[in-house]
Amino acid sequence: MEQLTTGQQAVQTLKWLDGRLQMIDQRVLPARFEYLSFSSASEVAEGIRTMVVRGAPAIGCAAAYGIALEALALRQLNREAFAAGMERGFAVLAASRPTAVNLFWALARMRGVWQVGLHLSLTEIAASLLHEAHEIAAEDVRINRAMGVYGAALLADGARVLTHCNAGALATAGHGTALGVIRSAVEAGKQISVIADETRPFLQGARLTAWEMVQEKIPVTLITDNMSGYLMSRGEIDAVVVGTDRVAANGDVANKIGTYMVSVLAQRHGIPFYVACPLSTIDLTIPDGAAIPIEERSPEEVTGFRDCQWAAPGVAVRNPAFDVTPAELVTALITEKGVVMRPNRQSIAALFPI
Ligand code: MRU
Repeated sequence: MEQLTTGQQAVQTLKWLDGRLQMIDQRVLPARFEYLSFSSASEVAEGIRTMVVRGAPAIGCAAAYGIALEALALRQLNREAFAAGMERGFAVLAASRPTAVNLFWALARMRGVWQVGLHLSLTEIAASLLHEAHEIAAEDVRINRAMGVYGAALLADGARVLTHCNAGALATAGHGTALGVIRSAVEAGKQISVIADETRPFLQGARLTAWEMVQEKIPVTLITDNMSGYLMSRGEIDAVVVGTDRVAANGDVANKIGTYMVSVLAQRHGIPFYVACPLSTIDLTIPDGAAIPIEERSPEEVTGFRDCQWAAPGVAVRNPAFDVTPAELVTALITEKGVVMRPNRQSIAALFPI
């Protein structure tokens, strides 16, 4: 296991090294900065399920590498055994987490490359799948940079920006979606300060967003999840920028549990609510937010944190990991193709010309 100090600037969530996928273990940040190594689709699926890697675009990239790893491991077999093993790889990855559509988007893209290359040798197929995984990761950074430029224009110099969960470099192949907008605004010379809410129960805000911002010396203030209304009521928040795990065809936005609450508060206080949303996160097959599958995670995440369990043993628990913000509460989607104000079915469909 490779250990790095937390003083490093560039956060490289996933990297390909010596024929294996290395991913930062996001469960132990910020106390430890460590990479774990993955060599099969099932290992990557387990890494996604247990949140070694999390965040919609990063999950998609990891799944793509999982498929490439499987192809590389199986390429000495005959075609039938290769195909059976690959199908098992696709299935175990597809079952790892349900909400972020980027996972299924990346798997579909990898399947397309496999199908187009059916006439090739298995070694060539494996090479083309690895090439595609690299391309998905590189493209993710380019997309985040493009969203950053569009989103930065929406933030005034001096803006105090609330973000929920972590939609940063750690949640992507680099730069981030919501934090990418903030990074790009800072790069453009704007004074931006970030308010990170802690994001119970997994604490992505406190552990990951705060860490990313501290690393880069972007001013950040940490609050608990129940403080944003108070700060808004006192005029201490100018804009909200969040990421998303899946956007339905009508513009409803699934994101980390608690996002809906923030969006309602933002509307109450007349604060713009922006969603940084790569096109790979839009699911045109889902008519509206009610049909988005919402992951329920284990009760232990709510009854305590890691080894410290504080709730009464035996208490009933709900732990939905995501919620849905209705499109009517979304001021704008920030995509790599531009800003979609007040998104609706028509404006979303227009992002995908036939
Ligand atoms: O459960 P997580 O940590 O995977 O949830 C992550 C989020 O909700 C992010 O906001 C979303 O994936 C967008 S990341 C660019």
